Amino acid sequence: MISPRLILAEIARVLTGVVLIVSGLLKAIDPVGSALKIGEYLAPVLDERWAWSSLITLTLSFVLCAGEFLLGAFLLMGIYRRLSARLSVAFFAGMTLISLYSLLADPVSDCGCFGDAIHLTPLETLLKNLLLLPLSYLVLRDARGLRHLYSRRERWLPAVLAVVGIVVFMERNYRHLPLVDFRPYRVGTNLGEAIAEEDSTLQARLLASTRYLYERGGVTKAFTPENLPDSSWHFVRVQDGEDATYRAKYDFAPMDSLGNVCSEALLTDPGVTLLLLAPHWSRASEGSIDEINELYTQSLSMGYRFYGVTASSAEEIAAWRYLTGASYPMLHMDATPIRTMIRAYPGLLVLRGGQIIDKRSYVDLPTVEEVTHYLHRLREPGYIAPAPSLARSYLLLAWGILLILGFLRFWARKLHLTLYLKKRIHYPYKRKRSMRKNIVAGNWKMNKTLQEGTAFISELKTALSGKALHCEVIIGAPFIHLASIASLAEGSPIGIAAENCADKAEGAYTGEVSAAMVASAGARYVILGHSERRAYYGEDNAILTEKVRLALANGLTPIFCIGEVKEEREAGKHFQVVEEQLAGTLFSLSPEEFGKVILAYEPVWAIGTGLTATSAQAQEIHAHIRHLLVKKYGEQIANDCSILYGGSCNASNAAELFAQPDVDGGLIGGASLSVEKFLPIIEAFH
Ligand code: 13P
Repeated sequence: MISPRLILAEIARVLTGVVLIVSGLLKAIDPVGSALKIGEYLAPVLDERWAWSSLITLTLSFVLCAGEFLLGAFLLMGIYRRLSARLSVAFFAGMTLISLYSLLADPVSDCGCFGDAIHLTPLETLLKNLLLLPLSYLVLRDARGLRHLYSRRERWLPAVLAVVGIVVFMERNYRHLPLVDFRPYRVGTNLGEAIAEEDSTLQARLLASTRYLYERGGVTKAFTPENLPDSSWHFVRVQDGEDATYRAKYDFAPMDSLGNVCSEALLTDPGVTLLLLAPHWSRASEGSIDEINELYTQSLSMGYRFYGVTASSAEEIAAWRYLTGASYPMLHMDATPIRTMIRAYPGLLVLRGGQIIDKRSYVDLPTVEEVTHYLHRLREPGYIAPAPSLARSYLLLAWGILLILGFLRFWARKLHLTLYLKKRIHYPYKRKRSMRKNIVAGNWKMNKTLQEGTAFISELKTALSGKALHCEVIIGAPFIHLASIASLAEGSPIGIAAENCADKAEGAYTGEVSAAMVASAGARYVILGHSERRAYYGEDNAILTEKVRLALANGLTPIFCIGEVKEEREAGKHFQVVEEQLAGTLFSLSPEEFGKVILAYEPVWAIGTGLTATSAQAQEIHAHIRHLLVKKYGEQIANDCSILYGGSCNASNAAELFAQPDVDGGLIGGASLSVEKFLPIIEAFH
């Protein structure tokens, strides 16, 4: 039974979850790029010359990328649903405000939501966030009702793996270069050709926007080259084309010490050129100095070109030379294109015949012993460095496997494939670990005359005699039956329950039956808190608490019912409802008193309607109830408490329901009215 509202929440969950995962991952592929983008947003408050500004932006980048990915992953797996849903609403609300700011104040040309992989304008970003914000609210509204792949007890494992996985992934992309390069300077690009192509595109666009101004009779008009006017017009001048929307991808213009741009010379050289890039030498790592110097020395001896490329001042360059013994020539270039070309400082970019054939972070440079072999490979015709592989990320692999297992188990549960295993595994486990009893209890409600009631008990007694029972059997009957059926049931495994008792001990309460009277009639149990009594006789928490106390005081075992109505289930509030019902009644009992109570979860929408909670739904909420008991009374009492399921339970669904580890039996209405229907339910516990 799934309501349209919940279907909507599920769709919204998938959409927001997928967007969060994709945007988190695409940014996590390039943590340095994300930090640079954050720096652009924070430019009005952070000065990029401060050494710690890059530390701030990098930390924010890690937190943002990992946070986004984790929110998405948790939403899709259905773990920590309410917390993730709340945080995603807060996240999209924050992002909506930022995109509004970026639309109005224009601090960035591209929002950076999807790293360098997908570019959105500030307006597109605002629209995206305005769509996702209400979707995330739909998820939050019904967060508790969302499906989940892992139970409360298991969820820490995928959560830990997801956190470790994304942090390791980001750290890998930070230390080495981004796993996937979405920027224009990726390995394999023929930079010479790409720049030439970009130039000609720009020329064509400029030409297309060039206008010729002509004048006639005091009126001046602009004409396109294809549409020039006749000779009655006089030419005035050419209005040069411009294209404000066009943003050049390539800005490769290194200059030598004399200020000459030498990109042409570098890109047309058929040989190998190594460029060691760092926007500022003062902030470059000194981690691989020996390797760099060895690369330079051997490059020279093999006839390769080798340059340092930087935006550093002369003083910074001198300091770097002094510190590292660097003697390679330096070219000057703006810091921004250097950062676009490489994300590690220093990083190596290798050109051969204008094509980029390798790119490496300083941590991945060949060792001093490997340098010769490496340089020889660069010369091999057609050699291009292979792309990095994901296979080494064992953690990601483990996480992927866990996710797949979670899905498989989820579907297996849906298809009831696990029923067989559950019977074999959970059932003995449950009995071994706790004292709790399996119980099948009938609730006749206002049915049967006294004669019909006694006849039923006689028949059931006969049917059960000599049978090995795996559960306790209880019959809940109207007051008028109690004394007769209790004496009939004596010596049999059948226990007798009243369906109610008064909330007063004794006195002038015409028509009421006290707990003491119930006990004196031979009944040992009393059904309290049934939804029908709550709904039709106005029994509230205060009355029910009093009834429970009186029942216990008179040696009766309360079978206490809780459960939500249809609207509450549809709104995903069922967990909250049962929690409130328990808090308002039984949770005022001492642990010793509570230890004597039997609980029955009866979803009101399933009572007498033919609609049963699925075994997964029943298990989910029974586990939740037990979790509440653990929190209130500790593990032992929670484990020993029998929690029955009630609501259209019958011979055909009992076995599956009772096979759930936290379902300890049933409270049966309609199907307890004939022995023929009731007996197979008792036998479901075989
Ligand atoms: P049904 O089994 O008829 O749905 O009734 C359940 C119930 O209310 C038991 O107390």
